[in-house]
Amino acid sequence: MQWLVTGASGKLGGYLLRELQGRGADVVAWSGSRTGESFGVLLRPVDLGDADRVAEAFRSAAPDVVVHAGAMALVSDCFRAPERADRVNRRATEVLAELAGGRRARLVFLSTDLVFDGKHAPYGEESPAVPLSVYGRTKLAAEETALRAGHAALRVSLLFGPSLNGAPSFFDDQVAALRERRPVRLFEDEWRTPLSLQTAARAVLSVARSDCTGLLHVGGPERLSRLEMGRRLAAALTLDASVLVAARRDQVPAGEPRPRDTSLDSSRWRRLFPREPWPNWDEALRELGLALS
Ligand SMILES: NC(=O)c1ccc[n+]([C@@H]2O[C@H](COP(=O)([O-])OP(=O)(O)OC[C@H]3O[C@@H](n4cnc5c(N)ncnc54)[C@H](OP(=O)(O)O)[C@@H]3O)[C@@H](O)[C@H]2O)c1
Repeated sequence: MQWLVTGASGKLGGYLLRELQGRGADVVAWSGSRTGESFGVLLRPVDLGDADRVAEAFRSAAPDVVVHAGAMALVSDCFRAPERADRVNRRATEVLAELAGGRRARLVFLSTDLVFDGKHAPYGEESPAVPLSVYGRTKLAAEETALRAGHAALRVSLLFGPSLNGAPSFFDDQVAALRERRPVRLFEDEWRTPLSLQTAARAVLSVARSDCTGLLHVGGPERLSRLEMGRRLAAALTLDASVLVAARRDQVPAGEPRPRDTSLDSSRWRRLFPREPWPNWDEALRELGLALS
C-alpha cells in the first residue's frame, strides 16, 4: 500500500512518519519548504499553493492512501495572507480530494476545532460551524470539498507534545520557560480538549486504514484552560508553576477574535474506534516520557 503524507515536515507530520516507519509502510512525504530526511523518509517540497504542481506530484506518488496534514496552520499567517491561505488550505484539498477519488484512493483530511466560534461547546459533528478566523474558514471550506468527494475529515483539537523535527511547538516553548523559570502568560478563560500529537497520529492512521468516511471529532478526554494545561505540565515535570501568570483574552490584542471554548465531543470516534488509546493530559505526558512520576 502506497501512502502519501502531506505536511510531513510539520509537528503532526513528524509523529505520522514515526508511526508509519515503525510499521514498515511505503511512504511518499511532502513538505512545504523543508528538505532532507525525517524518520528515514525523504521530504519532497511540493507547494500546496500551486495546483498544477500538486496534481503533477500526486500522479508521480500514485498513492492508495493520502493523509492530508499540510496546511498554513497558523491563524496569524492566514489572517495576513487570506488569498494564499485559500489556495493552500482549501484549493489544494479540493485538488487532492478529486485526484484521490479518481484513483479510488482514500483521503483523510486534517481539520480543526477552530471551525467553531467557541460559544456553544462541547461541539459534536452536527453542531453548526461558525469560524471566526480566515484559518477556520479555509479549513471548513477544505473539509467540505473532502467530504463531498466521499473522503474522511478529522477535526482535531489543540495538539500538544514535543516537536520531533526541529520547529518548536507551543509545548516546547512552555517546557523551556518552566525549566528556565521565565514567566509565561496563559489564558485562564480559553478552553480546549487537548490531544497529544502521538494520540492524534495513531487516530489518523487507524481511520486511514479503515473504511470510515465522513466527519469525525477527535479531541482529548479532558476540557482544560490554557492555564490549567501549563500547571499540569509544571506538576508533571516537578517544576515551579509560580512562573505561570494567569491572563485573560481581552488583555491581549488579536487581529481576529479567539474562540473561547472549542471543546470537542469525540463520542462518534470513540464509538467507531473504541480500542484506540485515549490518554488524558497526565497519561499522555507519561507516555511521552516527560513526567517524572
Ligand atoms: N497543531 C494543532 O494544534 C492543530 C490543531 C487542529 C488542527 N491542526 C491541523 O493539523 C494539521 C497539522 O498541523 P501541524 O501542527 O503539524 O502544523 P505545522 O507544524 O504548522 O506544519 C504544517 C505543515 O504544512 C506544510 N506546509 C505549510 N505551507 C505549505 C505549502 N504552501 N505547501 C506545502 N506544504 C505546506 C509545512 O511544511 P514546511 O514546514 O516544510 O514548510 C508543514 O509540513 C494541519 O492541517 C492543521 O490545520 C493542527
